[in-house]
Amino acid sequence: MLITLEGIDGTGKSTLHAALAEPLADLQPVFTREPGATWVGDSVRRAIAEQTDPVTEALLFVADHAAHLATIVRPALAQKKLVISDRYTDSRYAYQSVTLEGVISEPLAWLQSLHNGWTIVPDRTFLLVLPVDVAFERLKAKDGREHFERKEVLEKVQKNYLELARRDPSRFIIIDASLEKEEIVQFVASAIRQLSGLSRSRRRR
Ligand code: TMP
Repeated sequence: MLITLEGIDGTGKSTLHAALAEPLADLQPVFTREPGATWVGDSVRRAIAEQTDPVTEALLFVADHAAHLATIVRPALAQKKLVISDRYTDSRYAYQSVTLEGVISEPLAWLQSLHNGWTIVPDRTFLLVLPVDVAFERLKAKDGREHFERKEVLEKVQKNYLELARRDPSRFIIIDASLEKEEIVQFVASAIRQLSGLSRSRRRR
């Protein structure tokens, strides 16, 4: 089963990802992330840091996804493991739709066509949503801000995420990221536990 965590920067998504290890330890999940689970991720980090051309950057994110699928996600799913990824394809759809605005005529359609036919769609996606002002305040505390981490960019990215969720309500679970961390961890952990139990009992039938 493939679970993904998504949301704009500053929603506590990576903290949640790390915090799920303990309550889900008995399920032995494979915790992974995009970008950066493979060496291709290093090129992506460099592209982000150097603010390269947006098409180059988008294609590097897609290359990182291909390497991530080939080396981590597919092998783990083939062994019936539970995979929990901090960011995945929806990050491209939400962020690169913004960075490619005015560069490519229909960024989302272009990005989706790049993934069609070989990507694996997650079973469930937890989308952390927080007012952009609050997320931005949280980011201010962090050094070395990336070029995505501007308020007007994050506003658009969050809008894109919500539209993706609206179009695919059976996959997305929206989480109010302003709730207490413990409450969010408990809710997401028990939802994942329930989903993984369901998939196990389906397999037994
Ligand atoms: P991170 O902060 O989760 O490590 O991700 C680094 C940045 O990369 C973050 O601002 C979101 C952005 N990003 C994209 O723009 N497109 C993508 O496909 C992914 C995976 C991340």
